[in-house]
Amino acid sequence: MPTIIPYTLDRHAEVLALMEATPGLAVREADSREATARYLERNPGLSFLVEAEGRIVGCAMSGHDGRRGYLQHVVVAPEYRGQGLAHALITRCLDGLEAQGILKVHLDVFADNDLANRYWTRRGWQRRDDLIRYSLIRGENENV
Ligand SMILES: CC(C)(COP(=O)(O)OP(=O)(O)OC[C@H]1O[C@@H](n2cnc3c(N)ncnc32)[C@H](O)[C@@H]1OP(=O)(O)O)[C@@H](O)C(=O)NCCC(=O)NCCS
Repeated sequence: MPTIIPYTLDRHAEVLALMEATPGLAVREADSREATARYLERNPGLSFLVEAEGRIVGCAMSGHDGRRGYLQHVVVAPEYRGQGLAHALITRCLDGLEAQGILKVHLDVFADNDLANRYWTRRGWQRRDDLIRYSLIRGENENV
């Protein structure tokens, strides 16, 4: 039976493999073991995994900057979709953020990820067509 467990660094390689196998997600150097360790240390108790039959089949990471929450890397393996696992993961993240006083949460979705855009809209997340995100990369590496 799938079980929600805290994201611990020893499962990082399995999470990365799940993300790499999932169309619609970008895996960057910011997803390295070192960067993930930093993220989990800065945002303890706010990222979760789904374990089923000894392997990782789902993930949701969240954190906050003191004002707003951020949800990222929400993914469930295809054969485990449609049984409420993403919903359970996200609820754990949102409950954890709310317990720390964070009531508004943002997430990024690629504009062409139709599945994800339908998902968030259906789940009541407000699509923000009034905002444009700008990003700046320091250095030459486009994949940070
Ligand atoms: C998006 C994703 C995480 C959903 O995982 P999931 O475990 O199947 O979702 P759930 O079973 O928790 O779905 C919860 C609800 O959303 C609905 N739902 C699930 N997938 C949906 C979809 N593609 N479109 C619309 N509704 C959807 C379910 O019917 C359910 O609705 P209900 O509560 O009214 O019954 C999964 O499809 C996935 O991993 N996609 C690829 C990765 C990705 O694009 N992630 C988002 C990056 S921002």
